[in-house]
Amino acid sequence: MAECSRHAQKGIGCVDCHKANEGEIDAWQHMGALVSTLVTPKDCSNCHENEYKEFSRSHHAKAGEIFDSLDNVLAEKVIGLPGNNADTVNGCLQCHGSIIKFKRDDVGEIVREGGRPIIDPDTWPNSGIGRLNPDGSKGSCHACHSRHSFEAKLSRAPENCGKCHMGPDHPQMEIYRESKHGIAYTANIDHMALDKEGSWVQGKDYSAAPMCTTCHISSYMTSEGEHNASNHDVGERISWTLRPVVSTKINMVIYEDGFKENYPDTRKLPEIGEEVLVTEKNLQGEKLVAEIVSKRVVKIVTWQERREKMKGVCRNCHNNTHVDNFYQQFDSLVVLYNEKFAKPAQAMMDALAEDGVLNPNTPFAHEVQWIFWELWHHEGRRARHGASMMGPDYTHWHGMYEVAKHYYMKFLPAVIKVAAKKSDEMKAKYEKKIEKLLEREEHLWMKGLSEEETKVLKSTYEDRYN
Ligand code: HEC
Ligand code: HEC
Ligand code: HEC
Ligand code: HEC
Ligand code: HEC
Ligand code: HEC
Ligand code: HEC
Repeated sequence: MAECSRHAQKGIGCVDCHKANEGEIDAWQHMGALVSTLVTPKDCSNCHENEYKEFSRSHHAKAGEIFDSLDNVLAEKVIGLPGNNADTVNGCLQCHGSIIKFKRDDVGEIVREGGRPIIDPDTWPNSGIGRLNPDGSKGSCHACHSRHSFEAKLSRAPENCGKCHMGPDHPQMEIYRESKHGIAYTANIDHMALDKEGSWVQGKDYSAAPMCTTCHISSYMTSEGEHNASNHDVGERISWTLRPVVSTKINMVIYEDGFKENYPDTRKLPEIGEEVLVTEKNLQGEKLVAEIVSKRVVKIVTWQERREKMKGVCRNCHNNTHVDNFYQQFDSLVVLYNEKFAKPAQAMMDALAEDGVLNPNTPFAHEVQWIFWELWHHEGRRARHGASMMGPDYTHWHGMYEVAKHYYMKFLPAVIKVAAKKSDEMKAKYEKKIEKLLEREEHLWMKGLSEEETKVLKSTYEDRYN
């Protein structure tokens, strides 16, 4: 294991990573050294300062700050038992990261065995990407650099990202596999130089196919020569957020301390030099606490500049028109989803809340809330992710097809159903609202196709299937 790793070759031993300082909560005496079982990004930062800084400011490092989300209501309340949050522990937190805690006795003292503090089994083992560590650092480097070999080839492989980036609500791995890029990767896996030591540049060391890391992290050749470096901030080259109900383009605001924040393009940008209030979440003891702090803006990276960086990757293998046209195809799919389905569905949910039909205290209590949730969080994301990474089946059959079917056949009827629970007047109000909505041009197909269109359809099916 560690004996033959790059670290071992360079003379880096157990204590270089596992050493602890006097007074640290996880420290214990072991064979004459003060050590810790936990190894956090801060421990790696002693030798890998740049990767630490880039990673710590990325969205990945914030992935543990999800405890107030609707996803969490699902895991803890809808699925959990009082005193048993095993779904959160085995599910969410293995991807997102736990708050590392220690087992305590009745008076709050840490339980020890032979001096070694025992970590709360609800919180470790865990290599979630945004793990919250007792030393205040966020994330875990071994989410991608599995111990103890820490091999570059493992971190570079798409399957590595696929541990988390898969499944019904963010199937990036499945999309990649079905894309021309994934196909080229699989066929050419021996030509990807995955094992190369040191710098590994797309366009120089390999060119048969792009991988997740090629597009989101790694170095690539530009017309001016090699792109300066890989960047452990996976958000650097992204111009949309495809996660919320309604997608927006995202500008990036960078503060003096290196902290970054995404500003949707619908939000006014601050000036360089301006002090702005920012919410930061940090551990205090074993609790995540939000603080509002003032930070000075030093740089703004617009969504266009972020996109330009991604296009630089593509240009190694495609010409400008190919790349620009791809972005037009992708953008218009996001606009279609936003305008025809997401915005009207959100407006309907807002109206139900305003009319007191739905209550913010009762998420997931009504059918309509589940349907709406899946509409954007599952199907709607699949469609957007599919289009962003060239997976046509996810864009259409797992994506927009499901969005449309559920919008017309489940969501709108469920709106009326929940309104009817309140009163007959409310039911009538929403029936009327929906009737009006369906008069819009994009919904007229429901009133029937023209005679001509029906005739063509009929003859097609006769030709094809008799
Ligand atoms: C390059 C850094 C690094 C080096 C060198 C290193 N480790 Fe680790 N080790 C880690 C990381 C990261 C973890 C995961 C800990 C966590 O979850 O916080 C870990 C976990 C462990 C664990 C607990 C987890 C388990 O699987 O049982 C043991 C035991 C351990 N290491 C022993 C060793 C020994 C012995 C050596 C020397 C031969 C060594 N380590 C060298 C980084 C390192
Ligand atoms: C005491 C210094 C030290 C510590 C601590 C340390 N590393 Fe390293 N690491 C090195 C050196 C030296 C190399 C070899 C670099 C080279 O050859 O350019 C290396 C190489 C690597 C590589 C490249 C491996 C390859 O196959 O090319 C990775 C990935 C890595 N380290 C991750 C980590 C992670 C993650 C941690 C914390 C868990 C960590 N390192 C802790 C010094 C350290
Ligand atoms: C298989 C790994 C995995 C599991 C399990 C998982 N997530 Fe996620 N989650 C992700 C990934 C990956 C993303 C980012 C998706 C994207 O980029 O589109 C994400 C996104 C999110 C977001 C949106 C964050 C943002 O900034 O917009 C929240 C909130 C969230 N997850 C909460 C949860 C909760 C709570 C659970 C358990 C009920 C959970 N997740 C289970 C991997 C996972
Ligand atoms: C999201 C996955 C991911 C996480 C988390 C991650 N890395 Fe990496 N890391 C990679 C990939 C992929 C590469 C290979 C990039 C390349 O060669 O272009 C890499 C390469 C490296 C290298 C080799 C030098 C280089 O930059 O190419 C070092 C050192 C390293 N990472 C350290 C760290 C440290 C320290 C952390 C935690 C602070 C960390 N990584 C967290 C994915 C990750
Ligand atoms: C050919 C380049 C390419 C490859 C390969 C690729 N991506 Fe992407 N990815 C993109 C583009 C382009 C976008 C959309 C960028 C934008 O918003 O402008 C994107 C968006 C994303 C997002 C943001 C989704 C959101 O909800 O906002 C995630 C997460 C992601 N990719 C993960 C992955 C993973 C994991 C893999 C490998 C399984 C991968 N990507 C492979 C180009 C790529
Ligand atoms: C251990 C789980 C895990 C692994 C492994 C992982 N990710 Fe992520 N990733 C997440 C989660 C969770 C999020 C959402 C974080 C949030 O918004 O809170 C995310 C977000 C992202 C984003 C969106 C960033 C942004 O700024 O919005 C990109 C792009 C991405 N990941 C790419 C990758 C790539 C490429 C790899 C592999 C090299 C990878 N991830 C490996 C869990 C993971
Ligand atoms: C390392 C080279 C490489 C990189 C980088 C790359 N691609 Fe590709 N791309 C390919 C290959 C190879 C194919 C398959 C071509 C074929 O089948 O004719 C492909 C196919 C495509 C296709 C499908 C085209 C079709 O005719 O079906 C699209 C769209 C595409 N790439 C867009 C992009 C975008 C956008 C980027 C950057 C975000 C990108 N590619 C980055 C190599 C690359």
